[in-house]
Amino acid sequence: MNSTNPWSRHSPDLMFKHLLGFDFGSNPELQLNEIRAHKAGIAQMILSKLAVSKADTILDLGSGCGFIANPISQSVENVICCDISISFIEFAKKECSHKNNITFQLIKDFDLGGILDSSLAAAYSYNVFIHLNLFQMYWYLQALAKKIRLGGRLVFDITNANNLEKNVSDFFITFAENFKKNPEDRDACVCWNSPQAVIGLAKDAGFNLIENIEDSFFVFERKT
Ligand SMILES: C[S@@+](CC[C@H](N)C(=O)[O-])C[C@H]1O[C@@H](n2cnc3c(N)ncnc32)[C@H](O)[C@@H]1O
Repeated sequence: MNSTNPWSRHSPDLMFKHLLGFDFGSNPELQLNEIRAHKAGIAQMILSKLAVSKADTILDLGSGCGFIANPISQSVENVICCDISISFIEFAKKECSHKNNITFQLIKDFDLGGILDSSLAAAYSYNVFIHLNLFQMYWYLQALAKKIRLGGRLVFDITNANNLEKNVSDFFITFAENFKKNPEDRDACVCWNSPQAVIGLAKDAGFNLIENIEDSFFVFERKT
């Protein structure tokens, strides 16, 4: 990634396409309140898994527009939003401008060097690992293990490759067609991965699996 990072700069319409896929029709920027409400529901679900308190600092990795960090910030001391896209970071800064406990870091792939070791009570990454290959996940998980304190939680989702055995979904075919048209364009591509492999990488990095929801949403705890 880095200079060739496909996520680095987006026009606003591409940003929404990459954030939401086709979930909010062809003009999602006209439905911002519905999108905020949808993401607030996801934020509550994530928060319920993080086991954090008002005194804690947490990380939102791949924070996008800040639609999840914004509601979650009410329940913690600080949220650090990291993203590899300057466009998303700029949007999120505006979205969260009324909050003084959210900070933003533009990062390079797997580089969490701007965060102090063991300083995080928890981290979450929503709809981000679905775009990563196993090498990227390996390096992020290794980096996250250094930043999350012992006993702290890590929550993220993946796209489960095993589901393809039951059903080659329209979602898969859409991305397969995009890939055929332009194999070089990794923009917002989705990577199907084996849940067993991802769990293995997380364990190797120093996390215990404490909840597995349908092999596609995981709650880990930093081994004590
Ligand atoms: C589909 S959006 C999800 C945004 C947000 N988490 C949400 O659910 O609203 C994916 C986000 O991940 C970021 N991203 C993609 N690859 C990344 C990487 N390797 N490291 C960090 N962020 C990444 C993108 O820039 C984008 O903001």
